[in-house]
Amino acid sequence: MPAVVVLGTQWGDEGKGKATDQLGSRIDYVVKFNGGNNAGHTVVIDGEKYALHLLPSGILSPGVTPVIGNGVVIDISVLFEEIDALEARGVSAERLLVSSAAHVIAPYHRTVDKVTERFLGKRKIGTTGRGIGPAYADKINRVGIRIQDLFDEKILRQKVEGALDQKNHLLVKVYNRRAITVDETVEDLLGYAERLRPYVADTPLVLNQALDAGRTLVFEAGQATMLDVDHGTYPFVTSSSATAGGACTGSGVGPTRIDRVVGVAKAYTTRVGEGPYPTELFDEDGEWLRQTGGEFGTTTGRPRRTGWYDAVVARYSSRINGLTDLVVTKLDVLTGRDKIPVAVAYDVDGRRFDEMPDDQSDYHHAKPVYEYLDGWTEDISGARELSDLPVNAQRYLTHLEEISGCRISAVGVGPGREATVAIHDLLG
Ligand code: GDP
Ligand code: IMO
Ligand code: MG
Repeated sequence: MPAVVVLGTQWGDEGKGKATDQLGSRIDYVVKFNGGNNAGHTVVIDGEKYALHLLPSGILSPGVTPVIGNGVVIDISVLFEEIDALEARGVSAERLLVSSAAHVIAPYHRTVDKVTERFLGKRKIGTTGRGIGPAYADKINRVGIRIQDLFDEKILRQKVEGALDQKNHLLVKVYNRRAITVDETVEDLLGYAERLRPYVADTPLVLNQALDAGRTLVFEAGQATMLDVDHGTYPFVTSSSATAGGACTGSGVGPTRIDRVVGVAKAYTTRVGEGPYPTELFDEDGEWLRQTGGEFGTTTGRPRRTGWYDAVVARYSSRINGLTDLVVTKLDVLTGRDKIPVAVAYDVDGRRFDEMPDDQSDYHHAKPVYEYLDGWTEDISGARELSDLPVNAQRYLTHLEEISGCRISAVGVGPGREATVAIHDLLG
């Protein structure tokens, strides 16, 4: 029985939620290991749309145990809002497990996120404003609050005092904001403790025992490789490890226990927020992709930046993550194009780069070198096998496979759970 990581190979919103959900009926545990409610995963089941932020997508499948791992940062008010909204729609969160070592996003993290972005002005990251960066900064700075701290008021108070000490100097003296009191923060966090208690567990132990017992685990990443704090387009990244290694540190499961690493890639690309994006389109083709693909953020509703497929990014992601399988999504969106450009390399001030430039300035100057593939006009949303696809769609996929450094195991042809062309079994 395998342990499978599902992650994004581009800049997020590749359709990770749908990919995880599809494995749902065959898995026992689904583990979120990084990020927080900056993520937005949309799953469509029988025409009903679910948007998940903190809870892993597998929660929509009966029988699956959802786990929020130690690598996640948790805004507890958002967690309960999400649980309540799902339960109102008949989805039970009863089996949810939350790591006692996960860090908490406190109200002051949201404040700091917003004021920092405002202060950065033109140099802003374009964050989701959910307090993600400041919460991870506190974790690394060793002044974070962990879930287990909520169950001991004395310790909680000490830790909040430690966390607020420097922040209040910054808020008041640099950002001209009011100081945040220890009392208001402690009261806010303690207010969740009793409701949270039944979900809290030693999740690394639970997950390793589940693997010992032959259970199937899926580790679902938030964000994506190009937003990873180490391997993405730093500093225009999120603050966590969204790549395959993050699945281990963020869950407490060792790398020798992971069987498969599945990368999810759109048949084109999108990005939300600031930062370099070589294949970005600023013309009517970009607007066409945005409208046809419904490219508006699940979390913030922002219009996503859009562009053609980037094989340099795909190869980089294959390498960094050690991908075993690629799931290509939203192929249906490209239907009706005469020619489909695909970037195979970059031109950086007259120099050709076949692989990702190591230097940030080079990446900011990278211009795509395109190949143009033939498109198709037939509706492909009903395709379930490769042979159901028009020959040019098949050729598009064969070519992507050749230039992306990984075999393609499934192809999305619509948002619905069933709208997938299956090629290789992801759990086999
Ligand atoms: P995630 O963050 O990676 O889970 O992706 P999002 O849910 O933010 O964005 C992906 C969007 O594409 C969602 O609206 C999905 O319902 C939709 N989607 C996923 N796969 C497909 C597909 O194959 N075709 C189409 N048309 N839409 C898809
Ligand atoms: P899913 O899981 C797309 C982007 C933000 C911003 C940068 C940093 O749905 O793919 P943060 O709030 O994390 O500090 O913002 O990262 N970002 C995402 N973009 N999809 C996401 O998640 C994202 N999560 C964060 O837009 O550029
Ligand atoms: Mg998303």
